[in-house]
Amino acid sequence: MMKLSLTDLTALKHQRQKITMITAYDAPSARFADAAGIDAILVGDSAAMTVFGYDQTTAITIEDMLLLARAARRGTTRALLLADMPFGSVQVSDAETVSNAVRFVKEAGVDAVKIEGAGPMLRRIGAVIDAGIPVVGHIGLTPQSVNQLGGYKPQGRTAAAAERLLDDAAALERAGCVAIVLEAIPQTVAASITRALTIPTIGIGAGVECDGQVLVWHDVLGLSFDPKGGFKLPKFVKQYADLGHEIVKAIEAYIADVQSGRFPEARHTYAMPDDERERFETGHHK
Ligand code: KIV
Repeated sequence: MMKLSLTDLTALKHQRQKITMITAYDAPSARFADAAGIDAILVGDSAAMTVFGYDQTTAITIEDMLLLARAARRGTTRALLLADMPFGSVQVSDAETVSNAVRFVKEAGVDAVKIEGAGPMLRRIGAVIDAGIPVVGHIGLTPQSVNQLGGYKPQGRTAAAAERLLDDAAALERAGCVAIVLEAIPQTVAASITRALTIPTIGIGAGVECDGQVLVWHDVLGLSFDPKGGFKLPKFVKQYADLGHEIVKAIEAYIADVQSGRFPEARHTYAMPDDERERFETGHHK
């Protein structure tokens, strides 16, 4: 199976073929997504919530992200592998950002890193690109800035805010980004950005006119639900399976089987050769 390259993503845009991306955080999930034919796997810092149980993405560390990215690398054959640079790994200086990005390439073999934001982040992004590491941009709802944005709210809903997003997208393209994730912005704004850029746009909550779509693994598969209640999926998610309920049902069945003695059955146990069993049971081996 031929591994995709970053230039294949741009080619897909120009051939008007949609790009598919999903998050994954370990080897088996990356293997499943790859086998299904996904174009790109993103080791998202959404892992802070989906895997580590924090309530914000800012809590995840670069060491956590590298661990997950290395695992996802082992499961990925054909798809592109991207990883988020987490909060804290891009904030301090250009030099530190570059050395953190280098770790994602050297230690996890990612094809590109994703960095949230534009404006003041353009310098950092430029430094990483100058160091020879491809960068995917991310604007709109940028979860690492959720406190500044005042919550997980759609962005770009006024004409002025939409204009700023267009400017940011153009600046990210000029800085040399290979693609841009557009999160939670109106469809019409995402469509204008998509038309204005030569690099692909990957939408999440940004409508059908983006060049591709990305969703979070746990949301797609019904693993985000909390059996204790209270979790609500964002409006832009389409859930394709209900694995969370299936998992609870399977574990309930296992518990019931163990408690009732229905598991393990004879076929799940190891036997001794008859003569050895007899010697063992009669104590003749002593
Ligand atoms: O962290 C993440 O999973 C992401 C996607 C939602 C694009 O950034």
